[in-house]
Amino acid sequence: MKIGVPKEIISQEYRVSINPETAKLLIESSHQLFIQKNAGDGSGYTDQDYEKLGCTIVDTPSEVFTNSDLIVKVKEPLNEEVEMMRDKMLFTYLHLSSSKDLTKKLLECNVTSLAYETVVINNETPMLKPMSEIAGRLSLLDAIELLKKSKGGKGKLISGTSLSDPANVLIIGAGIVGVNAMQMSLGLGANTTILDINNELLRSIKTQYPAVNIGTSSKELIEGLLPIADIVIGAVLTPGAKPPTVISREMLSLMQPKSILSDVAIDQGGCFETSKVTSHSDPTYEVDDIIHYCVRNIPSAVPFTATNALNESTRPFIARLANDGIEGLKSNTNLLMALNTHQGHLVNQEVADAHDLKYSSPTNIL
Ligand SMILES: NC(=O)c1ccc[n+]([C@@H]2O[C@H](COP(=O)([O-])OP(=O)(O)OC[C@H]3O[C@@H](n4cnc5c(N)ncnc54)[C@H](O)[C@@H]3O)[C@@H](O)[C@H]2O)c1
Repeated sequence: MKIGVPKEIISQEYRVSINPETAKLLIESSHQLFIQKNAGDGSGYTDQDYEKLGCTIVDTPSEVFTNSDLIVKVKEPLNEEVEMMRDKMLFTYLHLSSSKDLTKKLLECNVTSLAYETVVINNETPMLKPMSEIAGRLSLLDAIELLKKSKGGKGKLISGTSLSDPANVLIIGAGIVGVNAMQMSLGLGANTTILDINNELLRSIKTQYPAVNIGTSSKELIEGLLPIADIVIGAVLTPGAKPPTVISREMLSLMQPKSILSDVAIDQGGCFETSKVTSHSDPTYEVDDIIHYCVRNIPSAVPFTATNALNESTRPFIARLANDGIEGLKSNTNLLMALNTHQGHLVNQEVADAHDLKYSSPTNIL
């Protein structure tokens, strides 16, 4: 199969979808790779690294798209990219539940789109997990920076000292992001509380991390905790669908000025009412004196780690798709879960429900 790797174009996105190790595996399986010039630069991989494996380096995105049957990306495509993918296959993070426009554009352009994040195996999202680990850890580290007075924050040291109290960290959602943020927070000595709707999960976390406070997530409990929270990390997920709103604008008035809301779930549309997407170059804004941090591609701050972790998880799925093509999805239930749009049909139930669009069963379409 002919596989294309464009350079990512959203602001400060330095990851690349295929690293040299994945490229080597694909070339050894007789696939052809078209890599856009400098696509790997941000992650520390040069064009020569790809060329010496047998990949073809092309100058422009349009050459990548024209030459390829399958486009492999990191972030969801922008409209101008979708236009160039008409009738092609796309494998990337898509998060279609948070974008009706992109869903309609993919359908209109007949793109066969597959999303990393809609594959769920044993209650885990294997291609979201490595990015969630990074995002969870970095969200806490970035919030610590924002606590500094010099960064516009309250001027609190996360760990406190022998004579002063540590900061209070509230994490909503105890999945991969939440637990990774919690580990950092506990490790730094903060007074840490984690909430979820899954009590069994909370009990097992408490057994493993006795120092953490746990609670069943509810509006009332969150309202009770907001007045003392210095940092709140939003880490909830409803697979394939929009996240629930766990903090409304009204609830901001319960918080102390310059407290921090970090909405990690912003890539799915956000879990705080006042969240709007920000970027690494301008990551924060304030609403009612509360600092909001809503970067939707947190892992791209550490592209070397993120590219390689991403490839470890996506490599077997990319290889399978390249080897077996779209026909192979009929006998591969895991990869079939990735399929979101095909031949103008929307085949993901959650995305269809989120946008009130017609759903078609993938098994009827393939
Ligand atoms: N911004 C970024 O760069 C970035 C990177 C990675 C992941 N994410 C996002 O972070 C979020 C969390 O990802 P994850 O991998 O940890 O997901 P996960 O599925 O592992 O965990 C989500 C948790 O949220 C819980 N939950 C659902 N509704 C809840 C509610 N009302 N209150 C409390 N908990 C609730 C679930 O029970 C689950 O335990 C997702 O939205 C994901 O897309 C963002």
